[in-house]
Amino acid sequence: MDIKALVSQMTLEEKAGLCSGDDFWHTKAVERLGIPRSMVSDGPHGLRKQDEEADHLGINDSIKAVCFPTACATAASFDPDMIREMGEAIGDSCQHEKLSVVLGPAVNIKRSPLCGRNFEYFSEDPYLAGKMATAIIQGIQSRNVGTSIKHFALNSQEHRRMSSSSDADERTIREIYFPAFEMAVKEAKPWTVMCSYNRINGVYASENPWLLTDVLRKEWGFEGYVMSDWGAVSDRVAGVAAGLDLEMPSSGGVNDRKIVEAVKAGKLDEKLVDLACERILNIVYRYAENAKPETPWDKEAQHAQAADIAAECMVLLKNEEGVLPLNKADEIAFIGEFAEKPRFQGGGSSHINCFKTTGALEAAKDLKIIYARGYDVAADDAPAEMIAEAVAAAKKAKVAVVFAGLPDSYESEGYDRSHMRMPACQNKLIEAVAKANPNTVVVLHNGAPVEMPWISRVKAVLEAYLCGQAVGEAAVRVLFGDVNPCGRLPETFPLKLEDNPSYLYYGGEGDVAEYREGVFVGYRYYDKKKMEVLFPFGYGLSYTTFEYTGLKLSAEKIKDTGVLNVTVTVKNTGSCAGKTVVQLYVGDAESTPIRPVRELKGFVKIALQPGESKEVFFTLDKRAFAYWNRQIHDWHVESGTFTIEAGGSSRDLPLKAEVVVESTVELPRRYTMDSIFMDIMADPKAKAVMMPVIRQTMAIFGNNEREGGTEAAKEAVTEDMTVAMMNYMPLRGVFSFGGGIPAEQADELLKKLNGEG
Ligand code: BGC
Repeated sequence: MDIKALVSQMTLEEKAGLCSGDDFWHTKAVERLGIPRSMVSDGPHGLRKQDEEADHLGINDSIKAVCFPTACATAASFDPDMIREMGEAIGDSCQHEKLSVVLGPAVNIKRSPLCGRNFEYFSEDPYLAGKMATAIIQGIQSRNVGTSIKHFALNSQEHRRMSSSSDADERTIREIYFPAFEMAVKEAKPWTVMCSYNRINGVYASENPWLLTDVLRKEWGFEGYVMSDWGAVSDRVAGVAAGLDLEMPSSGGVNDRKIVEAVKAGKLDEKLVDLACERILNIVYRYAENAKPETPWDKEAQHAQAADIAAECMVLLKNEEGVLPLNKADEIAFIGEFAEKPRFQGGGSSHINCFKTTGALEAAKDLKIIYARGYDVAADDAPAEMIAEAVAAAKKAKVAVVFAGLPDSYESEGYDRSHMRMPACQNKLIEAVAKANPNTVVVLHNGAPVEMPWISRVKAVLEAYLCGQAVGEAAVRVLFGDVNPCGRLPETFPLKLEDNPSYLYYGGEGDVAEYREGVFVGYRYYDKKKMEVLFPFGYGLSYTTFEYTGLKLSAEKIKDTGVLNVTVTVKNTGSCAGKTVVQLYVGDAESTPIRPVRELKGFVKIALQPGESKEVFFTLDKRAFAYWNRQIHDWHVESGTFTIEAGGSSRDLPLKAEVVVESTVELPRRYTMDSIFMDIMADPKAKAVMMPVIRQTMAIFGNNEREGGTEAAKEAVTEDMTVAMMNYMPLRGVFSFGGGIPAEQADELLKKLNGEG
């Protein structure tokens, strides 16, 4: 299809019309030219296709579909290959349902445990979020349907989400909030991007030319279309100019007319409208020309796949005295309503109408299970009889497993949590059960960290996150050892909410949310502060044990244009087969910019038989060592020594080595009379220019009159001392303190320092 030719045949009104939706879920058709409508649908962990009476709040039911584990859980798998396969399954369902684009993945950074949508987001770490996003996009798009990576950008709270401005400095945005989008855009080429509701440093994402054009298209090479989040458009004309191609949902024609008027009044270049239409139609036809509605959608097979994936996502947080895995011959108590009706997805636009769900109770129906409901999910208080019944069940059983977590009302799209606690009735239940049976295990169903006041009184905790419609099957497999747990935390669980770095500022004041903790999000903060946490980033246990040895680097020294190859050997030292995630962190040993102690730059999930060992390989390039430099507005490596650490979690890194990385980029320096001595002396070229001046100054002070030592030693001592004393002095001070240096020399010197003399 010659899209440019097609657009050239469209009237201005038709073009403006194409730039907004026909209704909630369709782009417009232009019958006169044979342009078809195309449908988009929420996801991203399954389809929420709505046909009739569409709304986006989940009030009307959508078609029956399969709910795979949500992003908080899939991130815990640390397994991009598996997530790619999940994407392929979702892509097939889209083809079957004639959907051109799935609205996801959502890759916003988990800045605070309170964000109501954390269950839809991957991680507090941009590298992990980027890898998972890339994998799911590649999977879905391999089926010739598009994705819409969202919500671009800095949409890390729900509070005032449609008006709040996320205010962050350039480096924080580049190092923390952009990389997941950047990696996915560059590596997986999503067909579309969805801009967020919020403003960024005062400008709505939907009308932000820096965001939608300069960064997204010019820097990262994005070629698809940008759509608005639903209702995110404030000034439509500014949006077209900024690079927002499609407004969703329909504006009822109001904004289309504004586009037409703006073009006619000469306020908006028609070429920009053409461009938006071309981008939209490229994708409409890309789907239409590859549509395969005959693709089968085997929901039962996908349910089985959802169960397999869920089992690989669960994170074993505690397992004292090997209470897990459970023995199938023993009598086990399953306590808590979530055993029967699990919570496995969150509320809002991602909510899927499951064709079936399996709770743990049903999945374990052939085993010796005693069930007690324990609490009422909808109530905050636990009636005494319910607790008594649970205690009785716990006493009878060998092991008591409490299925607990957060009710739907606690975390959802549209609002944030106000605290990190579980419902009081559930905490009370866990305490009572733990008192009744020393072998108490807790299985958690939640989309974000919770406080665990009872942690020291239970033997085991299995974090199931919101693990999709087959969660019960997966939980039973892991609990009884059919699957060895292999999930790792994609976020830190702090001891208490107040420990979180965003705690003082989260939510903001009025419509301004300042991201004042800067790059110190999640473990970047807890590690720098050497704080105790409940469970660290990257952590998770297994029924077997692993040993990490043999860290090898391909070089002791590299240039920032080169790469460093890293090898680690990992061995299964326990008695059953299992998987672990070898994690690689890089830190700048000595740096001028204020940087985290370590940052995740590689991970590999690997399966090992008992006694087996394997080597895993990583490649680190410039980005692994770089920080965002505000002076050159680019990534930059500060020459020096970097630490390479490897192991099983951010706080279990037995292997450490060092590499020297040399920058090939010279930072531009512009010296003035206000430049301080220390900065000048740190620059070898400027230092060479400066030394004669220092000697001259010293001569004036008479320092060279000192007695003793060789001439060279004498000079070194006096120079060092002078340099130390003068560190924070501006250049102008050198002259005023230096007395006798003529003022004309100042201009000469500046020229030389700036390489002009
Ligand atoms: C959400 C998006 C979603 C859209 C369509 C919005 O409210 O923020 O994530 O894709 O609705 O349902």
